[in-house]
Amino acid sequence: MDRRSFIKTGLAGAAAGSLLPVSALADHGHKAMMTPMAGSLYYTEANPGRWSAKAGGHLPHIKVEGSQVQVVTGHEMKGYEHYIVKHILFDAHMNILGEKLFDPTKDQPISDYTLPAGYKGTLYALSMCNKHDVWLNSLDV
Ligand SMILES: [Fe+2]
Repeated sequence: MDRRSFIKTGLAGAAAGSLLPVSALADHGHKAMMTPMAGSLYYTEANPGRWSAKAGGHLPHIKVEGSQVQVVTGHEMKGYEHYIVKHILFDAHMNILGEKLFDPTKDQPISDYTLPAGYKGTLYALSMCNKHDVWLNSLDV
């Protein structure tokens, strides 16, 4: 194999490897929380990576009552200096169910969503801090 073919094969493999885990694991509930990307690309309670002292204020919490979902991040909203930028809620297949962009001058990091009728499965909530990156949590409904 020449150098160019080797690089093409390697890039194709890397691309497939980066895409396959999410789609393959999303069908199996919380396993998407345990990919090699947890603790590096995004952070979880079990894999807080370089922000191990920051999990308490950054992990989004998911509450479900009937078809209503509320996502809360217990983080300060200190203007544009330090705040939660947004929440995104995903279903078990990583389809976006909703997202909320926050204005740190007037919002708290709380977002509300309505589930599709009869939804059963894992929900994933992502919370993004402007200083401490992206955090992921999940809940089965
Ligand atoms: Fe933060």
